[in-house]
Amino acid sequence: MKSKKIREKFLSFFEGKEHKVVRSAPMVIKNDPTLMFTNAGMNQFKDYFLGDKEASDVRVTDSQKCLRVSGKHNDLEEVGLDSYHHTMFEMLGNWSFGDYFKEEAIGWAWELLVTEYGIDADRLYVSIFEGDDSDHLPIDEEARNIWKKYLPEERILLFGKRDNFWEMGETGPCGPCSEIHIDLRSEEERQATDGATLVNRDHPLVIELWNLVFMQYSRLETGALKPLPAQHVDTGMGFERLCMVLQGKTSNYDSDVFMPLIQQLSHISEIPYTGKYDSEAKKDMAFRVVVDHLRAVAFGIADGALPSNTGAGYVIRRILRRAVRYYYSFLDIKEPVMFALLTVLIDQMGDYFPELRQQKDLISKIIKTEEKSFLETLASGLKKLDEMNLQTGDLIDGDSAFELYDTYGFPIDLTRLIAEEHGAKVDMEGFEIALHQQRMRSKKDASKKVGDWRVV
Ligand code: SER
Repeated sequence: MKSKKIREKFLSFFEGKEHKVVRSAPMVIKNDPTLMFTNAGMNQFKDYFLGDKEASDVRVTDSQKCLRVSGKHNDLEEVGLDSYHHTMFEMLGNWSFGDYFKEEAIGWAWELLVTEYGIDADRLYVSIFEGDDSDHLPIDEEARNIWKKYLPEERILLFGKRDNFWEMGETGPCGPCSEIHIDLRSEEERQATDGATLVNRDHPLVIELWNLVFMQYSRLETGALKPLPAQHVDTGMGFERLCMVLQGKTSNYDSDVFMPLIQQLSHISEIPYTGKYDSEAKKDMAFRVVVDHLRAVAFGIADGALPSNTGAGYVIRRILRRAVRYYYSFLDIKEPVMFALLTVLIDQMGDYFPELRQQKDLISKIIKTEEKSFLETLASGLKKLDEMNLQTGDLIDGDSAFELYDTYGFPIDLTRLIAEEHGAKVDMEGFEIALHQQRMRSKKDASKKVGDWRVV
């Protein structure tokens, strides 16, 4: 099943259960001081959960573009290394605002996966919240009893707050959750090791597919939990993972969501993509980083976060520069290339996300200009790092890291990444001091760097 069809099927399934199909909210958030980017499908519905607004439709479904690169949910450093982390991703979700609760949420999730998508039920495991003393929360017996109707008890697993209590951020709506995991290993491997022992253990082939959150509380600034005025459902399933599973692949990057982009990059660079994941496979990793980051940057720009030195714009700039460094160092590409992949991306996603098509020229021009300007200083910055002759255990001092940032445009996490490749570290405290001193030197500059939000 092609990815377009997979998305369509999800939405029409819930439409058939009386859900209103709505559009994805922008990935860049402008009206919430606690969040810079949408990091989950529920963000746009936060006010309904908190009871601050009343929903006109109590059942809703969509595919939401999300970005997890800052704050509580940050996956940036993992991207490229494995088969399933991304910066930008789509989250398929269904919501109930004070309407249905656990019984329907669980029953429909099972029906869609097993009956509609045809996933082998025997490969599925579910997790439920085991309770938490510090928050005075009991085990989620209700979810456990509902799951027992669908799968044997030994595949219903208990986990604590870290895995099975979902929170949007440091504050805001939250609640116990129940996750559906899938075991994609071969029959022999499954015989040898029980899949239940690999759930939530970072195994690349035993992965979380769908998270069903039962929103019941709001986390306050004090850390206390306040019950919400009503009970809600918030579910989220990684679209790219689902495509991998339904297309019989073992990496998200091998699905038709990413492959056309990888093939185009391979064509331009004249380097084959071999799909390896070991630490020597730098070229393959560079492919994954570039195609992943292109999506984040293109959607970021389409939603109004133009690369800049502050706030959301700087996050987009950092992601883009990370990608440029990867193709420059490992694919030997010395000219802008990401902008040239945009046509393929739009072919893939432009129907469901028309903003990409509408702003194609602008996005393309901005990406190309950004690539070009960083490529102008990247080589000198890399040379500078080379001259440091970094060895395991070395420390890049704060002033050098600041010089790389200020003169050569190296975001600090890029310097850290390169240092780590040599087993070295960066003196982050020294870097912060140098940065602070520079800001103090220029009051005018300092006011520019405050970003969109001010504390008054
Ligand atoms: N909010 C939950 C998550 O992000 C489910 O949508 O996983």
